[in-house]
Amino acid sequence: MNEYDSDRIHNALDVELTGNPKDADYIIVNTCAIREKADQKALSSLGRYKHLKSNNPELIIGIAGCVAQLYGKKLLKQMPYLDFVLGPRAIPNLPQIISEIETKNTRKIDISFDIEEVFEVNPFHEEGRVSAFVSIQQGCNKRCAYCIVPTVRGNEVNRPMEDIVKETVYLLSKGVREITLIGQTVNSWKQDKYKFGDLLRTVGELEGLERLRFTTSYPRDITKRMVDAMKEVREVCSHIHLPVQSGSDDVLKLMNRTYSRQWYLDSVNRLRDAIPDIAISTDMIIGFPGETDSDFEQTLSLLDEVEFESSFSFKYSPRPGTVGEKLAKTDSIDDKISGERLSIFQEKQKYYTLKKNLERIGKIEEVLVEGFSKHDNNYLFGRTTHNRIMNFEGGGNLVGKTVNVRVEEGLPNSLRGVIPN
Ligand code: 5AD
Repeated sequence: MNEYDSDRIHNALDVELTGNPKDADYIIVNTCAIREKADQKALSSLGRYKHLKSNNPELIIGIAGCVAQLYGKKLLKQMPYLDFVLGPRAIPNLPQIISEIETKNTRKIDISFDIEEVFEVNPFHEEGRVSAFVSIQQGCNKRCAYCIVPTVRGNEVNRPMEDIVKETVYLLSKGVREITLIGQTVNSWKQDKYKFGDLLRTVGELEGLERLRFTTSYPRDITKRMVDAMKEVREVCSHIHLPVQSGSDDVLKLMNRTYSRQWYLDSVNRLRDAIPDIAISTDMIIGFPGETDSDFEQTLSLLDEVEFESSFSFKYSPRPGTVGEKLAKTDSIDDKISGERLSIFQEKQKYYTLKKNLERIGKIEEVLVEGFSKHDNNYLFGRTTHNRIMNFEGGGNLVGKTVNVRVEEGLPNSLRGVIPN
């Protein structure tokens, strides 16, 4: 989501990127507020650019994104060298803001939510990319107790199908072969009589599209229409990222996830019944206030039961103004215990990721080639439909193409293969 917004900021300004901050006319730090660490990183990175103003008094420094939204005016007070604060919904106003700063020599803040056309500015697209994001939704209507997103990105706004198609067609005309539809709860997308499954079918049919992915799905919003489309549309990849957050019913309830462990497991079964070798990945929060040893055991046993291909796991981080923050005042989990639980979970996940990679040995996988491997120019890399990285020997003429590759090796985080003779 943030990468996408950074590319939108780039496009809104219609400027060239410079690799060196010293050469910049504008420095904009786009920020994430999901956990405290990201939030602090964003603020400290701003400080690094302050001294550049002494050599270049015209330099404009701004903060964008969710941290900008969260702290607003306070940031202007704290950082006298900061010229503007821009929330994630206000990106279309950026050109106006910059021009006012330049002509009136003032400082600006725009953290308004009432911008009608939140999708007005499409992202800058770098030529040659095989895979691209298309945003279909801004904000979120769920109220998960740990989460800052609704506070900083506002309520759910769904992008009209026509605009989604238009942006996708543009990207396909530029050589993109794989589209990932993005939204906070991407599968809750709807427009009048159209639901997410209909969108998958419509985008899936577009000329030149090889692969369709989407992220992130909310378990409660999985419908028959969605699963049928996933099964029937050839372009939709056999992978779903389906954050569960905890394996314990008590913790799920405290988190306000609105589903139970069994409900989640039933959804997994539903997906696997329809698409037997679908890869399922997840997000997990460890150490949510009130999480007991036995709750954590439930999380481990859920991992054993589902055997996620991969997961992102995080130590719970209290966020300002959330219900979780209040719970943390009385029921917070000792940092050392959270840390221990997190590494136990991650070790177990490593085992399953490797196990799943080893299971692919000998199989032929379709790989959409994205480019040359970083370490060796004789090697290409791409992804399998299950979203695994595959490295294999080959030439540059294959970039952007889908090739069959036989898996030779399963590594902890990737596969290695050969193009069969
Ligand atoms: N603390 C830790 N992890 C969080 N996430 C969201 N909010 C928090 C928080 N306060 C995680 C969730 C989500 C992912 C994007 O970040 O697992 O799915």
